[in-house]
Amino acid sequence: MTQTPPVPALRLQGRRIVVTGGARGIGASIASRCASEGADVAILDLLDEPGRATAAAIGGSFHRVDLTDDTETRTVLSDAIDALGGIDVLVNNAGILRFGPLLEITAEEWDEMFRINTRAMLTTTQVAAKRMIADRRPGVVTSGKIINMASMGGKTGGAGQGHYAASKAAVIALTRVTALELGPEAITANCICPGYVLTEMGAATRTDAMVAEWSSYSPLGRLAQPEDVAGVAAFLASADADYLTGQSVNVTGGMIMH
Ligand SMILES: NC(=O)c1ccc[n+]([C@@H]2O[C@H](COP(=O)([O-])OP(=O)(O)OC[C@H]3O[C@@H](n4cnc5c(N)ncnc54)[C@H](O)[C@@H]3O)[C@@H](O)[C@H]2O)c1
Repeated sequence: MTQTPPVPALRLQGRRIVVTGGARGIGASIASRCASEGADVAILDLLDEPGRATAAAIGGSFHRVDLTDDTETRTVLSDAIDALGGIDVLVNNAGILRFGPLLEITAEEWDEMFRINTRAMLTTTQVAAKRMIADRRPGVVTSGKIINMASMGGKTGGAGQGHYAASKAAVIALTRVTALELGPEAITANCICPGYVLTEMGAATRTDAMVAEWSSYSPLGRLAQPEDVAGVAAFLASADADYLTGQSVNVTGGMIMH
């Protein structure tokens, strides 16, 4: 039997973690949870003021970036990693949600969705993973972890969300490829598929009737709070998940079970 390594008092002590889209919502909750478990956290986001406020509240750093700009993303992420002194965990959380009937979605709307929800994830993964590989120390169990934010819609589809659901299905596939190609470098890659999380996303069109209807789809009878997702992300970022890779973890309150 192998010996179980000692569990540190703070599970993420000393881990250098970058969270995209960490200014608010699920990303802010992940950033906060990781910091409370001892991590050094850098937030990348388009939103200047909430990004700075969240970073200040958790003792982290904020780096403004438009993730749809490939060149800017490479520069800002590299600078953020330099400031952290390296990177142990990349949380690709930033994303947008738009609605539109399949027959009306324009090429521009499709491209916008994929630029942020999927292509930016490839760019940040390339930058972060190259650094993880370069900094890999001999004998370490894991040289880095990549956590991507997908969605229940990436598995089930969603009427009126053709471009969103397709972009999130692509995230699940990209996660698997990342796990396959970077596993030999001791890098793990997993994604989270949240169900319905009560954040700014979708808030403009949310009604009490919708909340009641969607709550009824969960055996737990409620929708998720950002903290429900953050706890799973912190677990994936920790040594407790060292042998977990290529997975898409449903955080849906049981709305889906596959
Ligand atoms: N809320 C839900 O019900 C739900 C369900 C499933 C999946 N998700 C996913 O979880 C992630 C977080 O969603 P949320 O609910 O917290 O939404 P949110 O809108 O509150 O937060 C998204 C964050 O991403 C940032 N962002 C968007 N475009 C950006 C860009 N071009 N450059 C830099 N930053 C950018 C935003 O500024 C914002 O801070 C998203 O990927 C979303 O698709 C959310």
